[in-house]
Amino acid sequence: SSHLTILGIETSCDETAAAVVVRDEAGQGTILGDVVLSQLDEHSAYGGVVPEIAARAHVEALDDLIRQALAKANMTLADIDAIAATSGPGLIGGLIVGLMTGKAIARATAKPLYAVNHLEGHALTARLTDKLDFPYLMLLVSGGHTQLVLVRGVGEYERWGTTIDDALGEAFDKTAKLLGLPYPGGPAVERAAASGNADRFSFPRPLVGEKRLDFSFSGLKTAVRQAAQSIAPVSRQDVADICASFQKAVSRTLQDRIGRGLERFRQEFPDVSQPALVVAGGVAANKVLRATLQELCDRNRFRFVAPPLALCTDNAAMIAWAGLERMAAGLAADELSVSPRSRWP
Ligand code: KG4
Ligand code: ZN
Repeated sequence: SSHLTILGIETSCDETAAAVVVRDEAGQGTILGDVVLSQLDEHSAYGGVVPEIAARAHVEALDDLIRQALAKANMTLADIDAIAATSGPGLIGGLIVGLMTGKAIARATAKPLYAVNHLEGHALTARLTDKLDFPYLMLLVSGGHTQLVLVRGVGEYERWGTTIDDALGEAFDKTAKLLGLPYPGGPAVERAAASGNADRFSFPRPLVGEKRLDFSFSGLKTAVRQAAQSIAPVSRQDVADICASFQKAVSRTLQDRIGRGLERFRQEFPDVSQPALVVAGGVAANKVLRATLQELCDRNRFRFVAPPLALCTDNAAMIAWAGLERMAAGLAADELSVSPRSRWP
């Protein structure tokens, strides 16, 4: 039949994940089995991801997660048409584990292997959950990436903006660390900010007003450090005020940067009647930032598409889906000699 079924594998950072996804002839995707094992507990004592620990944890978990994903889909490897594995960018040890496992399965079953760019997975996920046509704009905000990308089609991406220093999630994590909040910092900062005064500190809004669409967040982190040092000892309320002011500065920065991106999209695609902005990445969990983006889109008559949170953060369904999109677009599978790449723009 023209149904395509694929097994996806994701091991690029600190989530080990496997998924089975099917695509019907109309292009509609369905997740049949999707399992994610977070390594958060293994890394939290170190305040960040330790690559060696991550790689070993992937080795321990992956076989069983693949078995679980297939079981949930009520399938065996014989029912699968292809394998998709993340081959970059990310931590090289983890990438090797996932890609080599994908190659072994492809070899043993004589099925095609798709070596997927993790960012392409994030970029295409919204087409798995929403009816969404090309072209659209995608904002990826995670612990490792902050990018505004024009998605023209499968395999056709144009990076319009990126961070010139820290990723946005990293800025949340470093701010949390400075303030003595737990890792990962994003949720902790958001929680603290809820009872804070966002107007107490006036933090910088880097690159606001600039024509190019890049981001910068390291100055913000420095300003947070200085604010905290200036009022030591820092009380609970001080922490809340700093977090709220930090979040407000981020909000204003996104408003300006993304606002410019929406304008540029309109200029380049005047004929697209329902333009859309899609978000992905862990920072997309932040309710204040979501509201900011929703409001910005409403004001600019853009559709705001935020996939369910479990598909915004790292998972294997998005890798499987990227493989399916490539198959359906008639793009060739990869050779089994394909190498993992820690960097892959
Ligand atoms: O996409 P993700 O789960 O993993 C990768 O980085 O690939 O994103 C994790 C990042 C972390 O930096 C975390 O602090 C941030 O997303 N994050 C948040 C929130 N939840 C997670 N940042 C701000 N607000 C949140 N509620
Ligand atoms: Zn990711």
